[in-house]
Amino acid sequence: MPSILAIETSCDETSVSILKDNQILSNIISSQIDIHAVFGGVVPEVAARHHLKNLPLVFEKAIQQADISLSQIDAIAVTTGPGLAGSLLVGISFAKGVAIALEKPLIGVNHLLAHVFAAKLAFSELEPPYLALLVSGGHTELLMFENSSINPVLLGRTLDDAAGEAFDKVARLLEIGYPGGPAIEQLSLTGNPYKYRFPRAMLEEGNLNFSFSGVKTSVLYTLKENEKICKPDIAASFQEAVVDVLIEKTAMAVRMTGMKKVVVVGGVAANSRLREKITFWAKENDLQIYIPPKNLCTDNAAMVARAAIDLMKNESYASLNVTADPALSF
Ligand code: KG4
Ligand code: ZN
Repeated sequence: MPSILAIETSCDETSVSILKDNQILSNIISSQIDIHAVFGGVVPEVAARHHLKNLPLVFEKAIQQADISLSQIDAIAVTTGPGLAGSLLVGISFAKGVAIALEKPLIGVNHLLAHVFAAKLAFSELEPPYLALLVSGGHTELLMFENSSINPVLLGRTLDDAAGEAFDKVARLLEIGYPGGPAIEQLSLTGNPYKYRFPRAMLEEGNLNFSFSGVKTSVLYTLKENEKICKPDIAASFQEAVVDVLIEKTAMAVRMTGMKKVVVVGGVAANSRLREKITFWAKENDLQIYIPPKNLCTDNAAMVARAAIDLMKNESYASLNVTADPALSF
């Protein structure tokens, strides 16, 4: 297996990883969470500037930790989209520089595909066919990998907010900080998930698209109507509604496709309630479930490196003219 050096800068995490023979030699992640928390969300211009400052340091650290000579690297992988244009460009420019200096090929990686490959890092035996539930801050998608690990069929996606975006927006309503997912998960621990019945949208059979703007609005009205509300109950009930919809839609996709393996990836896949409930559901339905460890669910460059290995097998290389594609999709 080739050795890959990968760079990820699509949002607010600067990450560089070195992967050799499916082993993560290093996966350094420098998060900008504290910087953006002050603004309640990621500020694109600020994110790009910090990537510019951090990337050379993260790069150095990744090489040091991997204890590998650069001449042993076979290819440079970089996220080309989707994501923030300025942030992506910082990573792409840096990757091009490294590829030119080392005279190695460049591989452009779709960030969404990279998230799915986090499962392959954790479960090397995983091979198509499988269904993937990808739940992140910008995307909520059901993907079918029938006979290829790099060319999925898009079965459904969110028509408005992504699941992670809903967590972030509701956390803002509850004034519990950014990013919202971990904050809501924490607050939910002391709340009653059955206290409020928030809407579970679009659960009619055959519809694999999602909608999370209704549940957010419903939380807003519930907060407005009740002055002395118990925030943990709201958080837990909201989390339950989102988790229920994600599992229901995945179940629907399994019924429609007959897939027996289910992969759950993306930042929201770090959510303990989702991990616990979807694992239980999978067991009850005789399905195999693949959820990477939490640190591989959120943005990191190791998943980009792993995606690059399969792209290389397919001779899918990028030219040095490759640029950022902020709206890249499948
Ligand atoms: O995949 P990711 O790191 O970045 C994107 O590609 O978007 O996902 C970030 C999203 C954020 O919306 C964050 O609130 C959510 O994942 N998230 C969680 C948890 N950890 C991160 N949502 C629910 N529970 C969590 N524990
Ligand atoms: Zn991501």
